[in-house]
Amino acid sequence: MKAAVVTAFDTPPRYQDAPAPTPAEGEVVVDVVAAGLHPRVRSQAGGSHYTSTDELPLVPGIDGVGRDPQGALRYFVLHDTTQGAMAEQTVIDPRRSVVLPDGVDPVAVAAAMNPAMSSWVALRQRIAFEPGRSVLVLGATGNAGRMAVQVAKLLGAGRVVAAGRDPERLDALPALGADAVVSLAGTPDDVAARLAEAAADVDVVVDYVWGPAAAAAMVAIVTARPDRGKPLTWVEIGSMGAARPRSRRRRCVRHGSSSSAAVRGPSARARSSRSSARSPT
Ligand SMILES: NC(=O)c1ccc[n+]([C@@H]2O[C@H](COP(=O)([O-])OP(=O)(O)OC[C@H]3O[C@@H](n4cnc5c(N)ncnc54)[C@H](OP(=O)(O)O)[C@@H]3O)[C@@H](O)[C@H]2O)c1
Repeated sequence: MKAAVVTAFDTPPRYQDAPAPTPAEGEVVVDVVAAGLHPRVRSQAGGSHYTSTDELPLVPGIDGVGRDPQGALRYFVLHDTTQGAMAEQTVIDPRRSVVLPDGVDPVAVAAAMNPAMSSWVALRQRIAFEPGRSVLVLGATGNAGRMAVQVAKLLGAGRVVAAGRDPERLDALPALGADAVVSLAGTPDDVAARLAEAAADVDVVVDYVWGPAAAAAMVAIVTARPDRGKPLTWVEIGSMGAARPRSRRRRCVRHGSSSSAAVRGPSARARSSRSSARSPT
């Protein structure tokens, strides 16, 4: 069969022959209809994701839509594997899949599930989100952030502030439910002033950026908070603005599987249950 195959982490995947996947007990082979291409998949293909085992060759792809032997269309999420979704066929665990209803667009499902589930799980599972709460989405101009704006509204958010850099994508966010948009472009002082004005009293921050931009946003919000005793819950989902290891000689080691951080006034105590450390290897 044909697949996108990574044979070296410093070169892009190539469309080439790959061995047909072999199912273990309880698994089934599906014909892949569409595979999700997310930042997670890019870092998997580049060998920089923290789950990378350095095993090559590698077919990337962590989820997608496939047709099972009975003809049903399933959205699936794969275990960590070198037999990923970017192939004509892959192996799925049916327990990690859902049969899709007739008429759905498999490409839209494959593209949207991972970014949409990130905020859905965060707001439904990671924190006790209550309708009426206000939400700031940092990185709202990205795929996951755009979804987060809509998911927050769907879950009853009273006010959603959408922050990002790309001006055209920012302009499109009110039509998706954002009550206010904040540009993260410009000088740190300008950004801080905009965040202070639009988001000082938010209850929850859904953060896809992390790094210096998120640190500056924390300071801006906490400093301008009208009520410093009001809890602020900061959920880190992505880290697009954080420095990341570029060299294969450095490895990111992450402790635990949680991805939530909380900041509670008045002393702006920040707690992150997801810590990382880098060490030369
Ligand atoms: N844990 C999960 O389940 C899960 C699921 C989905 C995504 N994620 C993570 O969430 C993050 C975003 O994913 P995505 O699919 O939305 O990616 P994306 O579509 O590429 O969007 C990237 C976003 O990050 C912003 N950004 C990038 N670098 C930045 C910087 N230096 N400073 C400020 N903003 C910056 C972009 O802003 P502009 O475009 O405005 O420049 C954009 O809003 C990734 O880290 C991804 O791995 C996690």
